Amino acid sequence: MHDSAPDRTSNKFAFLVHPRADVATDMARIWRPLGRVPARSWDWGLRRLPVPPITLASVRRRGATEPDGWILVVPVGARQLLTEDRGWVIGRIEAAVDRAEQLGASVVGLGALTAPVTAGGAKLRERDGLTLTTGNAFTAHLSVEGLRRLLPAAPGGRLAIVGATGSVGSCVVRLLAEEPLGSQLTLIARGERRLRELAGDFAAAGTGVPVHTSTSLDAVREADVVLLLTSAADAVIGSQHLKPGAIVLDDTQPRNTDPRLVHERPDVTVIDGGVAAIPGIELRGDIGLPRGLAYACLCETMLMAFTGHTQRAVGQASVEHAVRMRDAARRFAHLGFDLAEPLSFGRSVSWPAPALASVAA
Ligand SMILES: NC(=O)c1ccc[n+]([C@@H]2O[C@H](COP(=O)([O-])OP(=O)(O)OC[C@H]3O[C@@H](n4cnc5c(N)ncnc54)[C@H](OP(=O)(O)O)[C@@H]3O)[C@@H](O)[C@H]2O)c1
Repeated sequence: MHDSAPDRTSNKFAFLVHPRADVATDMARIWRPLGRVPARSWDWGLRRLPVPPITLASVRRRGATEPDGWILVVPVGARQLLTEDRGWVIGRIEAAVDRAEQLGASVVGLGALTAPVTAGGAKLRERDGLTLTTGNAFTAHLSVEGLRRLLPAAPGGRLAIVGATGSVGSCVVRLLAEEPLGSQLTLIARGERRLRELAGDFAAAGTGVPVHTSTSLDAVREADVVLLLTSAADAVIGSQHLKPGAIVLDDTQPRNTDPRLVHERPDVTVIDGGVAAIPGIELRGDIGLPRGLAYACLCETMLMAFTGHTQRAVGQASVEHAVRMRDAARRFAHLGFDLAEPLSFGRSVSWPAPALASVAA
């Protein structure tokens, strides 16, 4: 164990994750026999037993003798994170941050739903010498890069963002206000007021791209490309929501696209978003991605540690921080940090071919 005082000069990081909707499958990544424990026992056990945060993986630059960081599991399932008593949930996340401090981390990234359930980290206490990030700004940047690749393959160019008012979503919209993509933008979430404000800000930027809002998922059916940025434990978008030939860029963790789409809608392309290539970084452990790839929020955590950035990045992700992280990624391009070749439901696929009209143009 680490009883000595934490080393604050090392620019090390920790990144928090949690079991997704299928708790047993994710716990089996830590120790295979755990995959045989029934789902109900997991829910009961994780709520009632004092299960400590668990180290899932270590991360180091290739050739380094010591880890640059660690991936820590907050032992609370995705559904429990969203439904259990908020004070208990935040206590479990704070315990993982304690563990990160003991390991000597100076930057802690909030992976998957640990960001949404803490209001983007704003509900976690500030600690001297420790910088928190949601990782959402770099995720927003990589999402825009994904859209840049996908929109030319969609003849109508109509884009819908589901979860547009969230931390990642609102940053994507503000980035698009500076550098517009697509022929039309539809912003979708359940809360109307924030949607109207965001659409107003986008319209005021004068991009010339018409912007609409909707609180109904029915509006998704109009879109040629759908960016999914909701924070639910289970599927939000299924077959019934998508027009023929639609392309979905799904950044969500856990996945909010229905896995049945693979069989039900062969005309639809689903690309797993928010994933970067990191060929210069070695990840020892199974985070549920092929070797050499990492989630964008983990990349932001690494980049903040590598650059010694000490200003916390909590709440709504800012355009300023997205640009800062884009520039940091360029500085560390020898390690990777650019958009990964596409995966769909975890399997390698090709980028959809550009539509004929775009090729002619
Ligand atoms: N791949 C990566 O590296 C990466 C990095 C960061 C985040 N993420 C993932 O990105 C997602 C968004 O994260 P975030 O921090 O931006 O979350 P957030 O701030 O909680 O935002 C969620 C957004 O989705 C909307 N929403 C939630 N549930 C909905 C539903 N059932 N139907 C329609 N809209 C819904 C929310 O607005 P209303 O409440 O008004 O509906 C809000 O606009 C999460 O799944 C997170 O794990 C992935």
